Amino acid sequence: MRDKKGTRTRAVAVDALTRRFGDSVSLDTIYCSSPYLDLNIQDQGLVRELVDGVLRNRGKIDFYISSLSNRRLSRIDEVVLWILRVSLYEMESLRIPHYASVHTAVSLCKSVGKTSARGFVNAVLREFQRRPPELPEGNSSKALAIRYSHPRWLVNRYLNRWGFQTTIELLDRNNRLPEPTLWVNPSRIEIPEFRKRLVADGFEVEVVEVVPNCTRVTGRGVTGHALYRDGYCFFMDISSQLVASLVDMTGKRVVGDFCAAPGGKSFLLASQLDADALLVSSDVSRRRLGFMKRRAAQYRIKGVNLVQADLVKGSPFGCSFDFVLVDVPCSGLGTIRSNPDIRWIIRESDLRQYQQRQLEILTSGFVALKRGRCLVYSTCSTEPEENEQVVEEFLGLQKQAELVKGFFRTFPGNEAGDGFFAAQVRRV
Ligand SMILES: C[S@@+](CC[C@H](N)C(=O)[O-])C[C@H]1O[C@@H](n2cnc3c(N)ncnc32)[C@H](O)[C@@H]1O
Repeated sequence: MRDKKGTRTRAVAVDALTRRFGDSVSLDTIYCSSPYLDLNIQDQGLVRELVDGVLRNRGKIDFYISSLSNRRLSRIDEVVLWILRVSLYEMESLRIPHYASVHTAVSLCKSVGKTSARGFVNAVLREFQRRPPELPEGNSSKALAIRYSHPRWLVNRYLNRWGFQTTIELLDRNNRLPEPTLWVNPSRIEIPEFRKRLVADGFEVEVVEVVPNCTRVTGRGVTGHALYRDGYCFFMDISSQLVASLVDMTGKRVVGDFCAAPGGKSFLLASQLDADALLVSSDVSRRRLGFMKRRAAQYRIKGVNLVQADLVKGSPFGCSFDFVLVDVPCSGLGTIRSNPDIRWIIRESDLRQYQQRQLEILTSGFVALKRGRCLVYSTCSTEPEENEQVVEEFLGLQKQAELVKGFFRTFPGNEAGDGFFAAQVRRV
């Protein structure tokens, strides 16, 4: 019975990884559907542990597989490869007896229709059990890419930009768990009251001073607490909260958030605006706007006006805005801790493609501004193509644009949050 259950949980993890990489389905979507939702809470937790663990260790695990088998990775069946990766992660990192992991992996081959791979999987895992390969030493990008499980092109970029010491700190940091923070909706509850109620229920609550209404809550099951379930707060990375709070909203009458879904920054902006101000939250994706609408209702955020528009095609708005936020689509390479799949999804060549779109969206945001007003351009990327280079190219093209203050970055460094970039640009 236990054996069958163990095989099923691993099968769901392997299915999630296969769909993420084979069919480009997001992990959020996978975790909102069968077969994941058919598992009990404990097994769902194990699936996430296995999936995230494999993603954070994939470079190292692939090195093990290459060392232990005489087949090239590209010649191993995709599903069989994920079975091996999940099992090796389990054997190296979880407190599960090795023989049980090997046994489950072999059963799994059969249950997913890969019976002929049983001998191969068994041989690789038993060899790992007997003689785990030594990881390469030294400071070369190849060795770092394997030891810290990052694509080599990204390691090379870090090394070229920040040097060895900062690079290994970043690589190490990218493999740690994120430090989740909550945004507390001030129109529903004041922070002291929020804190008091959670502390009374056994949670530890740290108020994060650098940004308004931000807290760090420690304790099991905060998502089950009434204050969370009833929409008094939601998880939002501290750097993302910082970006939405960069500019004081006092006195701004018409405000735009032009890449708004799923809504986090719009909701923060809405909470800072004067009662009679207008907030226009726009996005190209109807689906994501629909989700944002449901979230706004859940959190009882008032005054969010949703408009569907493709800003790559230009701005459908007149130049009537006192402030605009353009939180553009990007590679997400600043969020590797929170999204461990990203490093294996993004290719270096994608950065230029993002850049072109980012420049167009920035232009659409800019032409919607009144003269003398500012916009904030932001990304959750660490890479210059999507950050400084977009803004510099834009400033070179737009004679009416000037940079206000320097660039804002939350990376590299010791900040708790993701790697964000922002620039304030004024229309003169
Ligand atoms: C980084 S996300 C925005 C996150 C959001 N600001 C928040 O805090 O929740 C980027 C958004 O840009 C939207 N987007 C992508 N291409 C777009 C386009 N051409 N025009 C408008 N929005 C676009 C995506 O649908 C996505 O919702």
